[in-house]
Amino acid sequence: MTQAVGIEAMGVAVPSTYLELEALAAARGVPPGKYVEGLGTRRMAVPQPGDDTVTLAARAGRMALGAAGVDPGGVGMLVVGTETAVDHAKPASSYVQGLLGIGRRCRVFETKHACYGGTAALQLALDWVRSGSARGQKALIVCSDVARYGLGSAGEPTQGAGAVALLVSDSPRLVALDAGLSGVWSNDVHDFWRPLYSKDALVDGHYSVRCYLDALAGAYGHYKELAGAPGVPFFSERFAALAYHVPYAKMAKKAHRHLRAVDGDPEPDASFERLVGPSLALPSQVGNLYTGSLYLALASLLATAPRPLDGARIGLFSYGSGSCAEFFSGTVNPGAQARVRALGLEAMLAARTALSIAEYEEVMRAREAHDERPAVEAPPDDYRFLGVREHRRSYVAPAP
Ligand code: CAA
Repeated sequence: MTQAVGIEAMGVAVPSTYLELEALAAARGVPPGKYVEGLGTRRMAVPQPGDDTVTLAARAGRMALGAAGVDPGGVGMLVVGTETAVDHAKPASSYVQGLLGIGRRCRVFETKHACYGGTAALQLALDWVRSGSARGQKALIVCSDVARYGLGSAGEPTQGAGAVALLVSDSPRLVALDAGLSGVWSNDVHDFWRPLYSKDALVDGHYSVRCYLDALAGAYGHYKELAGAPGVPFFSERFAALAYHVPYAKMAKKAHRHLRAVDGDPEPDASFERLVGPSLALPSQVGNLYTGSLYLALASLLATAPRPLDGARIGLFSYGSGSCAEFFSGTVNPGAQARVRALGLEAMLAARTALSIAEYEEVMRAREAHDERPAVEAPPDDYRFLGVREHRRSYVAPAP
């Protein structure tokens, strides 16, 4: 029998401040229903200038290691998947290595393919552990991003920020992921991108939705071929739950409708609440995490599903613009839901502070000038970006 490999523990970090989308709608002269029901997002995480891809990744990584009781020395591979890197050459993961005190005998790098970058790293880590090359070491995969389109843009209500860390090992106490059963789909398209000279992402919004749905059908079709046996009555009924990449919650609804239509379901929305609903409870409070979005949806499913999922099969869909997509699956380990609930993610989101529109716009503008800001001292209450001095980014870790 093949050894089970998968996610041993997770950690989630979100900025401590957010914007109500109703307030954004009012400020932009848009009916609130367009954002809240039309996009399905209630709140959007807004990082303060001291928070960036690195600090969010460090906080999520610390939570994952702490939840598993794993010493940083036990990590043999540390990868940050991100599309909002802080440097063209030095990976965010090297900063995270320093902040978390991860040892020197560790492979450390960064991966990029839009929102798929974290999944690429996860699949690599799974195969590293399965192959035996890990020799008992664990991989820490952190998906971390600050999703930013800019003030007044069509993408503005689909911003967000946050990180999800996944500890990958041969003790998959949360979810064992299936080996050799992964449907992939890739295509050279220009749906969403960020030129090297721009801090804001550019997007062909409605086209990006079509690209996402085409990629879902392609990856799911590949998965079905690999899985063989047809499902009864619909293939996706073999899953107790599904988690999709969530740029905004309504996109997951569109995705599910498309997937069930591909299945031949004449009522493609009827299974949405049962199969997808719990995975959106947390994402609708945070907005887009880019690489981390699918994994926040997974955390949300495990933290908020109203029924036991012990031993249940779940399906996961990752989409990265440009594009690459993957549909893969796994089995929830008994006790996984209690472990994720113990992270207190809902309480963490509830404890955040709401920003006014003026404060939000001020933070967005402050981030513009951020790279030129001289380093300043900050109270070490958490991981913080302090600024840039002599072209070197400077971070501080909280006192142990
Ligand atoms: N009450 C309720 N609903 C309303 C409403 C109202 N008063 N007014 C409008 N709506 C609904 C619309 O009917 C629409 O719903 P449907 O999609 O179900 O038809 C929804 O609100 C949005 O309205 P519009 O399509 O008119 O909105 P828009 O033109 O401003 O653009 C968007 C929406 C394309 C998603 C835009 O926000 C955008 O470009 N976002 C960034 C791109 C993105 O997230 N793409 C997702 C796929 S790519 C991906 O997943 C990778 C990634 O992470 C970026």
